[in-house]
Amino acid sequence: MTYGDAAAERRTALVTGANRGIGRAVAAELYGRGLRVVVTARNADEARAAAAGIGPGARSHELDITDPDGAARLSKETGPVDVLVCNAGVLLDAGTDPLSAPLELVEQTLRVNLLGSWRVAQAFVPPMVGRGWGRVVLVSSGTTAEFGGALFTGAPGYSISKSALNGLTTMLAAQTAGSGVLVNAVNPGRVRTRMMPTQQTTPEEAARFIADVATLPADGPTGQFLTERRGQG
Ligand SMILES: NC(=O)c1ccc[n+]([C@@H]2O[C@H](COP(=O)([O-])OP(=O)(O)OC[C@H]3O[C@@H](n4cnc5c(N)ncnc54)[C@H](OP(=O)(O)O)[C@@H]3O)[C@@H](O)[C@H]2O)c1
Repeated sequence: MTYGDAAAERRTALVTGANRGIGRAVAAELYGRGLRVVVTARNADEARAAAAGIGPGARSHELDITDPDGAARLSKETGPVDVLVCNAGVLLDAGTDPLSAPLELVEQTLRVNLLGSWRVAQAFVPPMVGRGWGRVVLVSSGTTAEFGGALFTGAPGYSISKSALNGLTTMLAAQTAGSGVLVNAVNPGRVRTRMMPTQQTTPEEAARFIADVATLPADGPTGQFLTERRGQG
């Protein structure tokens, strides 16, 4: 694959959960590749601080992806974006199992990881279709059985939420096929962040892979689950 379409056109990228971890690293990587970036986070001060750390011109906005009106409201403020990275996510039920997982945690997980990203896509993807160009990346996980085994049972709500996110990816890709919009899910592997503090891979390493998918050329894949081959996350 070759990359670089987005940077060449000086596109605008919006990243959710970009105040820390993989999201912040992705925003910084895209900025480094010449895109304009919109750093979003549920805490406005943290979004502002992250944007300031990325560089001049990086913008910040508050966005809690579980806010029913938040993404639609934000899209009116930002106008259309060209690249959307749905990165924000939670891991709330690690160490449980499907027979005993507290379903309120599962529900909360689905509200963020599935419905939150879906809501953001509903706000930002239609204008991409209208403009005939867009790249959408949904940050998924290796807990979704991509290696042919069963879903990872040690965080059942999380695994289900990311599997559903992969399903959403295929639907959004089907609906946008031929429009110039490419929609893919990524597995970043295991990355050292607040969510997975003991991993070796840095957010910056993961961000390079995600930024590649966020800047695919016109003949790039869509509706795929693309994996960074460093390990399962
Ligand atoms: N780290 C890994 O090994 C790994 C592996 C596979 C997939 N992933 C995925 O990568 C993504 C980023 O995770 P990470 O590892 O960077 O973890 P992280 O450091 O915990 O970051 C998670 C981000 O999501 C944000 N977030 C959570 N709920 C939100 C909401 N309702 N609205 C807006 N933002 C919200 C957090 O904001 P706050 O700071 O305000 O909480 C934070 O910015 C997640 O989707 C995760 O599932 C990570």
